[in-house]
Amino acid sequence: MKGITTRPVILTGDRTTGALHIGHYAGSLRNRLRFQNSHEQFLLLADTQALTDNADDRDKVRTSVMEVALDYLAVGIDPARTTICLQSRLPALAELSMLYLNFVTVARLERNPTIKDEIRARRFGRDIPAGFLCYPAAQAADITAFKATVVPVGEDQAPLIEQTNEIVRRINAAAGRTILSEAQAVIPEVGRLPGVDGKAKMSKSGGNAIALSASPDEIAAAVKAMFTDPNHLRVDDPGQVGGNVVFTYLDAFDNDRAMLAELKAHYRRGGLGDAKIKRRLDGILQALIAPIRERRARLAQDLSYVIEVIRRGTEKARERTEATKREVVEGLGLFML
Ligand code: TRP
Repeated sequence: MKGITTRPVILTGDRTTGALHIGHYAGSLRNRLRFQNSHEQFLLLADTQALTDNADDRDKVRTSVMEVALDYLAVGIDPARTTICLQSRLPALAELSMLYLNFVTVARLERNPTIKDEIRARRFGRDIPAGFLCYPAAQAADITAFKATVVPVGEDQAPLIEQTNEIVRRINAAAGRTILSEAQAVIPEVGRLPGVDGKAKMSKSGGNAIALSASPDEIAAAVKAMFTDPNHLRVDDPGQVGGNVVFTYLDAFDNDRAMLAELKAHYRRGGLGDAKIKRRLDGILQALIAPIRERRARLAQDLSYVIEVIRRGTEKARERTEATKREVVEGLGLFML
């Protein structure tokens, strides 16, 4: 038959804990713009997962749903080609999570390197929310419910995909046939961007991020204050490129690779001042963000359109995830009504 193609299914998403920033753009958003041409893409507004470590800040979790959806649309995610859906309105995900929890042990959850690191970073101590400890099973539910075979996530999330595939094998073994397929983690080329202050992670809460809605002045101020090489005191001094945030960002966003290589060599040799490289980065970021900011401001004038996009996407996702849930319930040999 002509014209019928089945594209591989891709699922990614973001916890709704704040508007997105240029780190998200470099690491995931721009890849998603490409994936919507080659894959059947679902984007999950992961509000229930956000709740696992933000139960005391539900206002943030709720309001960030719109913020993240606005960011998606502003960068050019096209709802005709990508399905944007809301996790908390997809009951099959919660039901699958409950079923999967019987196929993982607490010890295995505690051993998951992603969870281990995150527990440490959040200083939970002994007071780990149960929902947080169990979120790898919930993420396995997300991935399998859509039958996603490709999951682009940051390197730090790779152990979650591994654990998902373990659950997939157990469910298939329990069912005696292949119901669920294993997923492959796709790690983006550009890793996590450091914050403008040089700290390991760019985050809104850390106050070291450049938002996708940043004004020209905010961008200029962030670049001006950006961490470079603290030992590069005079223009003539040789400078360090490694750990220099300006160069890290140029690596992520400067398309003129030959010019960038030359700038790095010049900086290392000495004779190239911070002001010059910052001017270059400022120009690049202004050009990148201006159309996103303008589109976002326009969309923010028409929130009912954005809500409609989420509603339609969630309806489509509901059909998909309910179908998988029925297969799993049946495969596990539960009573069917
Ligand atoms: N864990 C992801 C994050 O922190 C969000 C997420 C939830 C996700 N469910 C997912 C990503 C399923 C990929 C696939 O941003």
